[in-house]
Amino acid sequence: QPYSNLSSVKQLAESPGLNSIPSCYEYSNNHTDDQSTASDDPDEVSIPVIDFSLLSSTNLDQRLKVVQELGRACQEWGFFMVVNHGIPETLMKAIFDVSDEFFNLPEEEKIGYETKHVLDPIRCGTSFNASKEQIFFWRDFLKVFVHPEFHCPHNPKVFSDLLMDYVKRTRQMGRKLIGGISQSLGLEEDYIEKLLDLESGLLIFAANYYPPCPQPKLAMGMPPHSDHSLLTLLLQNGVGGLQIQHKGKWVNVNALPNSFLVNTGDHLEILSNGKYKSVLHRAAVNSEMKRISIAVTNGPSLDTNVGPASPLLTDDHGNEIPALYTPMTYREYLELQQVNKLDGKSCLDRVKIVPP
Ligand code: SIN
Ligand code: FE2
Repeated sequence: QPYSNLSSVKQLAESPGLNSIPSCYEYSNNHTDDQSTASDDPDEVSIPVIDFSLLSSTNLDQRLKVVQELGRACQEWGFFMVVNHGIPETLMKAIFDVSDEFFNLPEEEKIGYETKHVLDPIRCGTSFNASKEQIFFWRDFLKVFVHPEFHCPHNPKVFSDLLMDYVKRTRQMGRKLIGGISQSLGLEEDYIEKLLDLESGLLIFAANYYPPCPQPKLAMGMPPHSDHSLLTLLLQNGVGGLQIQHKGKWVNVNALPNSFLVNTGDHLEILSNGKYKSVLHRAAVNSEMKRISIAVTNGPSLDTNVGPASPLLTDDHGNEIPALYTPMTYREYLELQQVNKLDGKSCLDRVKIVPP
């Protein structure tokens, strides 16, 4: 275990003269079962673009149109780009800079936040594959619970103010999008908001750091997974790497400058009784540039029981539609994921009801 004294991939990537990766980072050679591996170069596709400003339009036709577009994006892709969101470019840049600074802190300081339990409010670490313990990923991360209680690392000093502002704005954006999605399902705009108690919804801020990798085709930044929340709002520092599974194939997804990449999560799949799928995605790495991605996951409150929304369990003729997911709380869901060592892997299969 020559690298066991290293606590981050960043530190490993910065070792002088590193021109190959330690075998424990060789993902492709160990995951031939993963449909296509990192060594294939997937096609780049364009995902739907949603003009956020239209969600507040007083023109009803315009609003209806964007709600329909949202619904189609959720149903056909599970991923879309959001433009005209009103979040200042300067704030987005500041969040990248402060996250970068965090990862640049001395290793000893970051170790203080080492990952233990999935419900610890601040966790930092480097990711390993829980199902095949020996394979590591080319990524360091910081995860912070920022709502309903706000947490933040003490360093860098400016982190807290910036993060609070960023969370306030992205939370508003997330709620507005969820309102539109609620309507796209034929529900009231505030139906999901009320049912899942989003007033106390759990928001997690996650910063991912992928250093340049000398053998990018062999390694993987983040393994295929779906997000456990309702909706994730993602930014990247202008460097691509996100791949999503679309129609059974891995495809590359990129974002327009200053746009958000948004994806539906497990709890939206559960709530919509499977109409909106939580799509598998992963992060590839490259040899040229460090990549930073910033995610804010918008989830239900931890203790609300979530199952398929009851209005969706009756068809137009009043006939019953079977519920496809067993209700449980978000807390139970996260713990189940950890107990089963699913790490990033989807826990959805555990709550899916198999029809008799
Ligand atoms: C994520 O899935 O949370 C992040 C993926 C990325 O870095 O693009
Ligand atoms: Fe994700």
